[in-house]
Amino acid sequence: MTSMVRGAQLARLLGHWHALPGRRRSPDYAALAGTIRGLLADGRLPLAVRLPAERELAEALKVSRTTVTAAYRELRETGHLTSRRGAGSWTTLPGGHRVASSGLWTPTDDLDMIDLGCAALAAPAELVPAARAAAEELPRYLSDAGYHPTGIMELREAIARSYTERGLPTSADQIMVTSGTQHALDLVLRLTVPAGAGVLVESPTYPNALAALSARRARITTHGLDATGVTATGDDGEGWDADLLLGSLRQNRPRLAYLIPEFQNPTGHLMPAELRERVVAAAHASGTDLVVDESFVDLPLDGTPMPPPTAVFDRHSRVISIGGMSKPYWGGLRIGWVRASAPLVQRLAALRVGVDMASPVLEQLVAVHLLAAADSIVPARRAQLAAQRDALLAAVRDELPEWRVSVPHGGVTLWAELDGPVSSALARAAEEVGVRLAPGPRFGLDGTLERFLRLPFTLPAAVLTDAVHRIAAVRYDLDRASRRQWREPAVIA
Ligand SMILES: Cc1ncc(COP(=O)(O)O)c(C=O)c1O
Repeated sequence: MTSMVRGAQLARLLGHWHALPGRRRSPDYAALAGTIRGLLADGRLPLAVRLPAERELAEALKVSRTTVTAAYRELRETGHLTSRRGAGSWTTLPGGHRVASSGLWTPTDDLDMIDLGCAALAAPAELVPAARAAAEELPRYLSDAGYHPTGIMELREAIARSYTERGLPTSADQIMVTSGTQHALDLVLRLTVPAGAGVLVESPTYPNALAALSARRARITTHGLDATGVTATGDDGEGWDADLLLGSLRQNRPRLAYLIPEFQNPTGHLMPAELRERVVAAAHASGTDLVVDESFVDLPLDGTPMPPPTAVFDRHSRVISIGGMSKPYWGGLRIGWVRASAPLVQRLAALRVGVDMASPVLEQLVAVHLLAAADSIVPARRAQLAAQRDALLAAVRDELPEWRVSVPHGGVTLWAELDGPVSSALARAAEEVGVRLAPGPRFGLDGTLERFLRLPFTLPAAVLTDAVHRIAAVRYDLDRASRRQWREPAVIA
């Protein structure tokens, strides 16, 4: 299945392509081809989408058809476009290049390494007292076998209460406790996505979600997010282009869409209420189940007001919300959940029995205690994250002033736009100086996003500053190394 961009949509993505800096001497067709290549490289224009017919794009851009014909010809020559007579032209990458998106994405065990590959905080001080209190309560659960496929009732009730407090009335029978958000996603995919079914995701997105989708052999299409959070029209989407996102749902009618509306990993964008409502309506119209990953919903910074939960707009049980304890509390707890209709929860529980039976009772009791102390734990986590984010931003602006970073108003990550397509090379070089990085392509499907790097602010401020210092050192070394390669060989006579 290929999706299609219309002339007006591509024109909007292209923005001011004809007036880009440094193009004074290049002809229009070359500038147009170059800008399309740039959109592809940044993941804003997905691979395998059909571009508009030449005449349609020429009209939308108000240029001659010859200009578009020449630009498409150049894109074909560089391997960025494949055309078939009568069928149209599709975006591609040279040499059929693709980078596998699956693969292990785990924190490093090397204690000397500063691990910026992992975007999660260490445990809060409250964890040990919560674990002690949970152990004291364990005897209440020891008189039966201890398997609770949907979770222990007191935790399901606490989770349901937190949704109700966010303005989404929820009962315990709409909650299933899982072993982390990733497990919640995997179970939902097992139930709803048969092999080969279409799934829409954001680009960039969370790499382990891509891995889960690959494991289900889903056919993935992408919606390209704008790194800066401002779309070409400067309008409503905060990084999501409403027209393209809704258009993609309408055209492709994917079986499922996976979105991260709150402080999206990795961009940090927050989806506005109006777009949430439109996405839910479009998903209903296209028969698409909408999985919203709310991993970061508890972590607005700077007092950022939160839009209503996406499921508030759902009148047809289209929205499946998933979330967990990992980001506000601790990943090592392995507690997450699904919020869906009660019948869907029952179907998930039946499926889960064939996977892992149930989540551990003791950890669920620890989660109950942590949630009961949310009012003291979570504000402290937000204050810690805001201070660490500011330290990271200051270090990047100081040491890598050519990089563009916008300030995320929540979550745990910066999405930096680099001064060249060097993300993977930089990650390799940084490893040599003791910093583990998650390069841009890990967050996409096709080996694009080389001009981006995710930087989490989950480590202490001093460690982040040290890491940026080391990254800056190798960044400038990369330049020197490549200059050496390009220098003419010296003739010694
Ligand atoms: C968007 C998103 N979803 C899911 C997860 C995994 O969460 P958990 O540890 O609850 O499985 C993460 C962790 O980084 C994440 O960023």
